[in-house]
Amino acid sequence: MTRSSTLEDLLSSLPREEGINSAYSYQYQGFWYGPTLLQGLIDCQQHFHAHENDVFLVTSPKSGTTWLKAILYALINREACSPQDPHHPLLQKTPHQLVPFLELLKPSDYDFVSNSSDNSISRIFACHIPTASLPISIREAGKIVYLCRDIKDTFVSHFHFSNEANVRPSPISLENAFDLFCKGTSLAGPVWDHILGYWKESLERPDKVLFMSYEQITDEPHVQLRCLAHFLGKPFSQEEESSGLLDQIIKLCSFKSMSKQEVNKTGNFFGEVKNNLFFRSGVVGDWKNCLTAEMASKLDQITEEKFHGSGLYLT
Ligand code: A3P
Repeated sequence: MTRSSTLEDLLSSLPREEGINSAYSYQYQGFWYGPTLLQGLIDCQQHFHAHENDVFLVTSPKSGTTWLKAILYALINREACSPQDPHHPLLQKTPHQLVPFLELLKPSDYDFVSNSSDNSISRIFACHIPTASLPISIREAGKIVYLCRDIKDTFVSHFHFSNEANVRPSPISLENAFDLFCKGTSLAGPVWDHILGYWKESLERPDKVLFMSYEQITDEPHVQLRCLAHFLGKPFSQEEESSGLLDQIIKLCSFKSMSKQEVNKTGNFFGEVKNNLFFRSGVVGDWKNCLTAEMASKLDQITEEKFHGSGLYLT
């Protein structure tokens, strides 16, 4: 049986809904995916083996993955490559090329990823896999950096991305996308369950899972960068602090800098999706330009109910 016929068989057995970022979304182990991501997830579960000291950036989709990929890459490789170097890899390749999504790699390519020049860190990967589906070796061997974002901004980013990237047979209306998102069928959704899974892991295993948010990085980039470096076992030295290295990394990875790089303005990410679609507005609170007051309050209400008692408050 071929890989695609096995996927077809699986898809026909799974609950199916209209998708926001694909024609259809399928429920697998409690979360929703389009066919490509689902195949990638299953490949990971069957074939991926984490190395000791691998770093995984796990995110809820549209929460700023591209940004944190750039920051992680610049931070981990800072000794081999100064963020001020005019030939820095982040000026020549996209963050997605430098830090690949596990679910978009072929299993035969897993072992060829080589993106850390630091001896204490093996490789850097990103993925959207929820805790419930995470391969055991990632839980045991790797360090996980988790990123989430205000739910209203996450939804608005999903909505725009879907229509700009043309990932569905026809554009989706705001109202339809909103209903599907609230139902939980967005990519790797329900977004609340995705976030809560890693929130709990970060409380139980703080040495293995670091929980971050887009808003915190925006508000206090230096504090968050120090926290990230410390978590990865690569704290900034006094010399690095006083040389302005943190400012340099923040500047290199900023929306302003990344979105104007030729490599991010041109070319495609995967299939037909254009690289520049990962740099839309990069603003906290942009939901105000898109959602009605009713929509905003409905999302706030679901978030409050879902996170009640968890100790987690987003923004
Ligand atoms: P908006 O659509 O709100 O602009 P992801 O990378 O997880 O797909 O998330 C994409 C979101 O992150 C988009 O949000 C995008 O503009 C924003 N983003 C990308 N690069 C960024 C950067 N360097 N700084 C801040 N936000 C960034």
